[in-house]
Amino acid sequence: MPDENGAENLQELTEDAVVEEVEEVEGADGIVDDVPEGDDDADIAKSFKDLGLSQGLQTTLSELGYEEPTPIQARAIPVLLGGQDVIGQAQTGSGKTAAFGLPMLDFIEPENEETQAFVLTPTRELCIQVTQAMRAYAEHLDGVEIVAVFGGAPIREQQARLRHGAQVVVATVGRMMDLINRQSLVLTSSRYVVLDEADEMLDLGFIEDVEKILRMCPSGRQTALFSATMPAPVARLAETYMYDPVTVKVTPKKLTVDSVEQAYVMVEPRDKLERVVEVLKAEEPEQAIIFCRTKIGCSRLERDLSNKGLRVKALHGDLSQGQRDGVMISFKEHKVPLLVATDIAARGLDIEHVTHVINYDLPNTPEIYVHRIGRTGRVGRTGRAITFATEKQAEDLKTIERVVKAPIGEWERPEERLEHAPRPRRKERRRDRAGDRGAPEAGDPDAPDSNGLVKLFVNRGHAGGIEEDDLRWALTEGAVIPEDAIDSIRVMDRFSFVELNADQAEKAVEFLDGTKLKGKQIRMEVARS
Ligand SMILES: Nc1ncnc2c1ncn2[C@@H]1O[C@H](COP(=O)(O)OP(=O)(O)OP(=O)(O)O)[C@@H](O)[C@H]1O
Ligand SMILES: [Mg+2]
Repeated sequence: MPDENGAENLQELTEDAVVEEVEEVEGADGIVDDVPEGDDDADIAKSFKDLGLSQGLQTTLSELGYEEPTPIQARAIPVLLGGQDVIGQAQTGSGKTAAFGLPMLDFIEPENEETQAFVLTPTRELCIQVTQAMRAYAEHLDGVEIVAVFGGAPIREQQARLRHGAQVVVATVGRMMDLINRQSLVLTSSRYVVLDEADEMLDLGFIEDVEKILRMCPSGRQTALFSATMPAPVARLAETYMYDPVTVKVTPKKLTVDSVEQAYVMVEPRDKLERVVEVLKAEEPEQAIIFCRTKIGCSRLERDLSNKGLRVKALHGDLSQGQRDGVMISFKEHKVPLLVATDIAARGLDIEHVTHVINYDLPNTPEIYVHRIGRTGRVGRTGRAITFATEKQAEDLKTIERVVKAPIGEWERPEERLEHAPRPRRKERRRDRAGDRGAPEAGDPDAPDSNGLVKLFVNRGHAGGIEEDDLRWALTEGAVIPEDAIDSIRVMDRFSFVELNADQAEKAVEFLDGTKLKGKQIRMEVARS
């Protein structure tokens, strides 16, 4: 869960999305979202209170530091509370779990012990994470039991929990089938069903069992599908399991998140290991996930990186559940900086300090690319995604670039030291982005506020050893900014904000972005407002 500061920053990100990026599309069967086009923001609730959620949930959300709903939450929650089926698509890290989870919790009748709702997820790790999120959301709802059922863990314990009553079940498909076959789980009262990562759940590996599961639920059930990617054929297929679905699509033209900078490295297959070590040394990620195509490749890379003296763990399906849990805990608790993983880590996982995603092997589809790189740049943070491709894969890389509609430039090493030299490459890129949006307008991040100040975001805070004096020093000594042009410096746990006279802001970014402060690379950019 994010702290208050994370939430604040997410707000900035989401407001931006509402202004520029919300689009309503026709549902698979021609049913459109209730909100008429062009009248977008007028009808969209700006607070959780306006969404119609119960008081208990509202209390929890403010305790969690969720100040405002994200766009997908603002749009999908009222539709779900109204009892309609929803196909929800929004970028990675945009709060889809709460978008389907909060209405689900308000749907539950606590006095009824039957399983009234369930969520299906493609992996055990995501099942555990969604369960934790749902439990956190249910903190002030008395008598709502949420039980996780997933493979690899002792089935007896899960059966015992189900016997005690589980109104909400979060499950992986195989284990759910197993429990149904053993009559430990009955779905005849499950009237609210969610497929998280729905395009994956409706893919070949799962579809047969998912169909069987859906057939066991009452026909009058409410069904919701959520994912950051929803290829058209999947949306059409989905419709056959739904009743009059409303499509709620909150995506910009790009499928990937703007706060993730994307680059590629062209590499000979035999040089891959050397190059990944070089990239890791240059980038100094706080934490990185390095994706491999196969389980064997994954263990091999873990061994090779360890042999090179790097601290790394591997996550793949050949490990026991105990091992998988151990790896996830040490990575989530920031005890190990590098995780080498297969695509079991590609979808849904929400890990706070992941600053880098490296595609050591090219993903099989552009959709998987979107999900993999979405493990960084979440909750308003920035991140970097670096993709390795061999000459033979150059075309595949281009396909990815075309489908995700985001530029993937050649990787360049970050600057080594706090240097005073201007850095035109970055400046140009910022201009390009501004150019995409056309002329500056209200809400344009580069525009000064009414006091003539511009707010800058710095990706380090107390946790990175940075204090107010360090930033002041970097601004005055490093970027030669006069002391009186600095209006305020706010250092938070994981990042900081600096407010400067507008005429100094560009210089600050130019001089300091990508340089090092107290031995760590800092990123500085104009905060969205
Ligand atoms: N309204 C909100 N305010 C602040 N933080 C939020 C809000 N909603 C969700 N979050 C936080 O945002 C993070 C991302 O949420 P979540 O995992 O649900 O994203 P997602 O859309 O499901 O992403 P993915 O496509 O990768 O699965 C979580 O840490 C969550 O606690
Ligand atoms: Mg998710």
